[in-house]
Amino acid sequence: MANPQTVLITGASTGVGLDTAIAFAKAGFRTVATLRDLSRRGALDEAARAAGVSLFVEQLDVASAASITDGLDRVTRAHGPVQVLVNNAGAGFLGSIEQTSDEDLRRTMEVNFFGVWNMTKAVFPAMREAGAGRIISVTSVGGLIGQPFNEAYCAAKFAVEGMMEGFAPLARRMGVSVSLIEPGPINTEFVANVRASSAETLSRLTPPYDAYLAAYMGASGNVFAQYGQTGADIAAIILEAATAHQPHFRYVTSEFARQIVKPKVVDYSGDSVVEAFAARLGPA
Ligand SMILES: NC(=O)c1ccc[n+]([C@@H]2O[C@H](COP(=O)([O-])OP(=O)(O)OC[C@H]3O[C@@H](n4cnc5c(N)ncnc54)[C@H](OP(=O)(O)O)[C@@H]3O)[C@@H](O)[C@H]2O)c1
Repeated sequence: MANPQTVLITGASTGVGLDTAIAFAKAGFRTVATLRDLSRRGALDEAARAAGVSLFVEQLDVASAASITDGLDRVTRAHGPVQVLVNNAGAGFLGSIEQTSDEDLRRTMEVNFFGVWNMTKAVFPAMREAGAGRIISVTSVGGLIGQPFNEAYCAAKFAVEGMMEGFAPLARRMGVSVSLIEPGPINTEFVANVRASSAETLSRLTPPYDAYLAAYMGASGNVFAQYGQTGADIAAIILEAATAHQPHFRYVTSEFARQIVKPKVVDYSGDSVVEAFAARLGPA
């Protein structure tokens, strides 16, 4: 790429974010991989070495408005404006409403929703001025379908879906495409992290929730073993959204994920909703 575009990826220490950083670097992007904790950069550095690519690593905690401002300031001074933003950082929480403390709820909303809102708000002015840019956010099938014991996580992902569906027609008028990536199960550290952050809650589960959770887990089966995608699978779809001539609004990432969202979605691309509201913004 003669004049590489700058991509900023949040939550690149593991999983989808790490694989996305490698995929974009391989594709020739000037890749800025951001991590909330730089001491966790070992796997990313190792993956970059193995792939024979170079990338830039910056500290950025999406749950902190100050960290977003500082991080973006450093990135812009070193690499120029961000042309592609990948809102990837996220974390689940397992527990129903009664077991979810105010602190658990706020933490879940901070990383999964406010982080996305604040990152988007921070990068957008430069994209608007340039008349170009792409904002890609990893939500989940849980952004379209609520699931028991995932009320806080689904609320946060639904919030991202609503925010982005509302913003997409306007952003497009200013030359910026907005896309959502909606995976089902992905085999990353996500589940272990959910269990770790929810361990205390789960250890205190009392009737009737304990039996419902056991039944729910049993009935859900091991979807990760059966249908789980890899971080690299999702990274390839994110790269497609970043490079397609006309990216879709929505990418449901697998047939299994499409079966889950089917009751709610008649247009898997989401483009018809964007078109309908774009038509209300006056002549293009
Ligand atoms: N895995 C799944 O089954 C699945 C399914 C659907 C959607 N998703 C979504 O896919 C995205 C990537 O998840 P993953 O599967 O790759 O899980 P993962 O391996 O747990 O990675 C999550 C990443 O987010 C980072 N992160 C957490 N809080 C952060 C914060 N405050 N600021 C910046 N980074 C933060 C983590 O950093 P640390 O290493 O510092 O914790 C890690 O790099 C998430 O948005 C998730 O909700 C996952």
